[in-house]
Amino acid sequence: MAFPPGFLDELRARTTLSDVVGRKVTLKRAGREFSGLCPFHNEKTPSFTVNDRKGFFHCFGCGEHGDAIGFVMKTEGLSFPESVEKLAREVGLEVPRATPQERERAERASSLQEVVELAARWFERQLRLPVGRAGLDYLRGRGLSEETIEGFRLGFAPDSRDGLLATLKREGATEDRIVEAGLAIRPDDGRGAYDRFRGRVMFPINDRRGRVIAFGGRVIGPGEPKYLNSPETPLFHKGNNLYCLDRARAASARDQPVIVAEGYMDVIALQVAGFAGAVAPLGTALTEAQLQETWKLADEPVLSFDGDNAGRRAASRAAERALPLLRPGKSLRFALLPQGEDPDSLIRNRGAAAISGLLERARPLADIVWEMETEGRPTDTPERRARLQHAIERRVEEIADLTVRDYYRTDMRDRLARLRAATRPAWTPGARRTAPGWRGQPPPGPFAPGAAARRVAVDSATHLQERALLGALVERPALLHRLAEDLAALPIDHADLSRLRASLLDAAASLGSGLDPAIEDGRGDEPPLETSLVLDHLAREGLARLASTVAEQARAQFRDTLADTDLAVEQWRRMARHIAQLSGDPEELARAEQALADDPSEENLGRLQAVLERIRRERADIGP
Ligand code: UTP
Ligand code: MN
Repeated sequence: MAFPPGFLDELRARTTLSDVVGRKVTLKRAGREFSGLCPFHNEKTPSFTVNDRKGFFHCFGCGEHGDAIGFVMKTEGLSFPESVEKLAREVGLEVPRATPQERERAERASSLQEVVELAARWFERQLRLPVGRAGLDYLRGRGLSEETIEGFRLGFAPDSRDGLLATLKREGATEDRIVEAGLAIRPDDGRGAYDRFRGRVMFPINDRRGRVIAFGGRVIGPGEPKYLNSPETPLFHKGNNLYCLDRARAASARDQPVIVAEGYMDVIALQVAGFAGAVAPLGTALTEAQLQETWKLADEPVLSFDGDNAGRRAASRAAERALPLLRPGKSLRFALLPQGEDPDSLIRNRGAAAISGLLERARPLADIVWEMETEGRPTDTPERRARLQHAIERRVEEIADLTVRDYYRTDMRDRLARLRAATRPAWTPGARRTAPGWRGQPPPGPFAPGAAARRVAVDSATHLQERALLGALVERPALLHRLAEDLAALPIDHADLSRLRASLLDAAASLGSGLDPAIEDGRGDEPPLETSLVLDHLAREGLARLASTVAEQARAQFRDTLADTDLAVEQWRRMARHIAQLSGDPEELARAEQALADDPSEENLGRLQAVLERIRRERADIGP
C-alpha cells in the first residue's frame, strides 16, 4: 500500500524514536544519543545507538540501521504498512488511503473479512445443532475438549447445497462478495452458486492479527480431498500465511520455540500440549515467505516432519528452500518423527514429553544438507567421493550470505575429511581392502528409519560377552577370516578389550592376508591362521594375559560349538547382535564422529565404524 507523500514524514516527525526503541531496549543517554544492547545481535557491551534528532538507530556491532518504521518491522515482525499503521495509531495520526482504488480495496478487504467472520460464526453454530452432530462426534472422537473446540473456533459445514450462501445473503452479503471470499462457487454453466464447503469439519484460518480470513475443511470419513482449503482470495494468500500464526506470534514473544508441523490437527494437538509456537503451512510445501515469517518469530524454528518417505522429501525441500535465505544466526532445525507418527498421534500415545524430547534432539540444517547428498549414495571409490564433494560444494554455493556460506564450507569440509578418514584402510597400512565394517555407506542420520533411540546399556554382562567373543577368536584364530568384519563392527567401549580387538584384526591382516574375500568364502588356498602365531603376536603387544582370560571365558560360553567352524560363527554372530542391540544409540554416532574429529586415532576410528555398522544393520534389519 502506498502512502501519500508527506504522510510518512509527518509520522516520523511525530514519533520519538527513543520511545519506540525504549520499549524493547534499555537505553542510556550518552550526549545527544542513546545507547544500549543491540536487539539484533548478541552482545555484552552496548554498540547500539539511537539518535532522536536524525530519527535513526544504528548498531556499530552488526550494522543494523533504520528508522522507527524499520525498527517496528524488525522487532515485531510486521509488514511495512502494518508498522506504519501501528505507529500512526500511537501518535494519533489517521492513516490516509492514497487513491480511491486503494480506499476501495481496503474497504472491500474489510467487508470480505466481515463475510468470512459471519461464515465462521455460522459454522460454529452448526456444530452445536443436530445437523452438526457428526462433526462434533468426530472432533470429540479425536480427543478434542470442549474448550479446544471453542478456542480454535472449530465448526461444521452441513452437507447442503447452499445453506451458508443463503444465510450470508440474508445477513446482507452480496453473492459476489461471498464468491470472492472463497465461500461459494459459481459454476460456469449458469446454474446458481453453491457452498464450497459441504459435509466438513471446519478449521478457521486467521491472519496474523487473529481475524478469520479463510478455512480448511476436513471430510468426515472417507472422501476426497481429505482437506479442502479456501482458494486464494484478496484476504488469503496461502503461501504467505501459516495456520495459527497469530498464536505463534504471541508465543514467540514469550520465547516459546516455534515448531512447524504438517497439518491442522498436529498444530492443535501441539498447542493444547503447551507448544504455543506451533504452526503449519496450509496444504502446500513450506514456501519462502512462510520461512521468512517463522524467522521473524525465532532464530531456529524447528520443522517437524513425518518419519516416512514423504516426510523426508518434505524435509529436503524445506532445506533446499532455506539455504539461499540463511543469515547469521538464522537457521532451521529438523525433528523427524518416528515412522507412522505425526505430532498429533505422538502426543496422544506418548504425551507432551515426547515432543520436548524431539525438540531437544532436533538436528541442525547442516546435518540434513549432508544427508541429502550422502544418503543412499555409495562413496567407495575416489570418483564417487569426488562426485559427493562436487554436489556438496554446489549446495553450499546456494547460500547467499557470505559469512554463513564460509562456515558451511568449513563444516562440510570437516565432514568430508571424516568420511575420507573412515573410508581409509584401517588397522594395517598394508591391508588390501577398505576397512571392515565400512562399506562406503554414508552415516545414516535422522532419515534412517531404524535409528530409534535406545540407551547405551553397557553393563558387566556385556563385557562378559565381549570377552567371550574376543576369546573365541584367540582360541580359534581360524574363525578370524570369517568374522573380521563383524569383529571390527563390534561395539566395544572397554579400552583393553578394544586393544585386543585391534591386535586380533592386525594379526588377521598381517599373518596371512586373511581378509581376502576369496578366503572369507572358504575358497582360498591360504592356510588358516595358526593359534601359536596369533598368541605370539598378542604376547608381543603385551596382551598375553588378557588373551588367556578371554579365551577361558570363550570356552565357558561357547562350550563345544567352538570345535565346529559353522556353528561357532553362527553363535558368535548371534552374541554380537545381542551386544549391538544393547548399545544402540543414535547420539552415539554424533559422539563417535566428534571423537574421531578431535583425535583421529585408530581407537576412535574403530568406534565410529562400530556405530555405523550397527546402525546399518539395524536399518537394513539384516544380520547374517
Ligand atoms: P495429512 O494427510 O498428513 O493429514 O495432511 P493430517 O493433518 O494428519 O490430518 P488428520 O490427522 O488425518 O486429520 C497434512 C496437511 O496437509 C494438508 C492439510 O493442511 C493437512 O493438515 N492437506 C492434506 C490438504 O490441504 N489437502 C489434503 O487433501 C490433504
Ligand atoms: Mn494426523
